[in-house]
Order: sequence, then structure tokens, then C-alpha cells
Amino acid sequence: MDHSDYVIDEMISAKSIAARVEELAREIHAHFADTDKLVVVGLLRGSFVFIADLVRELDLPVEVDFLEASSYGNAMESSREVRILKDLRGEIGGRDVLVVEDIVDTGFTLAHVVKLLRSREPKRLEVCALLDKPSRREVEIKATWTGFEIPDAFVVGYGIDYAQRNRNLPHIGKVRRKA
Ligand code: IMP
Repeated sequence: MDHSDYVIDEMISAKSIAARVEELAREIHAHFADTDKLVVVGLLRGSFVFIADLVRELDLPVEVDFLEASSYGNAMESSREVRILKDLRGEIGGRDVLVVEDIVDTGFTLAHVVKLLRSREPKRLEVCALLDKPSRREVEIKATWTGFEIPDAFVVGYGIDYAQRNRNLPHIGKVRRKA
């Protein structure tokens, strides 16, 4: 992978992300206001920045857990086979669960994860996705809350990578190949 053959154009500023995260947290708080404990499940690795910002805006009793599902490998195309590489540490049966995803693209990953977690019979399970590319959808699934709908572009930053790079960008940018 040669990281010198592309440039990153800013698509969503760090300020817009922060404002949207605050709004999402308000809606999530309203939904789960009566919870005794909310298990916030981050899908690794792309959601790690988003989940860190989101939980700090949530004034609720929160537990954080992580799950890693395979999706992209290092290519720009999505793979359909979803495998669980790392499962949750805690039990979610009878619990309130919020799944936090970075991007819903074809929908294969989220559909697989939601089905798996629902089989463990949580009390309530909702999904918050930072980004959604509805035009790419192949499996019918929608997050309960979505940060931003974006067009079909390959994006990086705010935790999201291109072949493991650019996760540390504070904003979200669109990858553009140099001519
Ligand atoms: P899906 O299973 O096709 O919905 O893919 C979801 C996963 O693919 C996301 O959680 C991301 O990890 C990855 N992904 C999808 N689109 C992008 C992108 O534009 N940039 C980086 N990763 C992406």
C-alpha cells in the first residue's frame, strides 16, 4: 500500500462532528433515561474515537465493551463474510445495549452483529452509527441514530482508516487518488 498516491479532502469538520455527537447523546439519553446500566458496545476498530466522545456526553450509568468483526481487510471493497474476531467480555442478556458503529456501508457487518447480539436477548438494543452511506446498502438495516449521511465515497479520520492509516485525523476526509 502506497500512502503517497492519495490526498484527503475535508468532508466533515471536527467542530461539526462534536456538535452532532452532542445532539446524538441527547437523543440517546432521552431514550435510555430510565436505564440502570447501559452497555455501550463499540465495534473495533473504527468506532474507538466516536465511542470515546459519545460516552463522555452521556450522563448515564454506562459500561463500555468492544467487539471486533472482520470486514474490509486492506482493500477498498467490502467483504461479505463477517467473522467475529473478538467477542464481548461481558454478558448482555436482560441489559440495555447501544451498539456504536463507525460507518454503515453495505450493511453486512451491522446486520450480522445485531443478529448475534439480539440472540443473547438484551432488554433493549439500539444502534448509533456515525456515518451512513445509504446508496451502498445491500442488506436492509438502519441504525436507530445516524450522525451523518454521506455519498458513496471512501472516507478516513476520526477513528476511520485506510489500510490502518489516518485514524488520527480529527476530522472526516474523503480519500482522493492523485491523478
Ligand atoms: P459494511 O459491512 O459494508 O457495512 O462495512 C462496514 C465497515 O466497513 C465499517 O465499519 C468500516 O470499518 C468499513 N468501511 C466502510 N466504508 C468505509 C470507508 O469509507 N472508509 C473506511 N472504512 C470503511
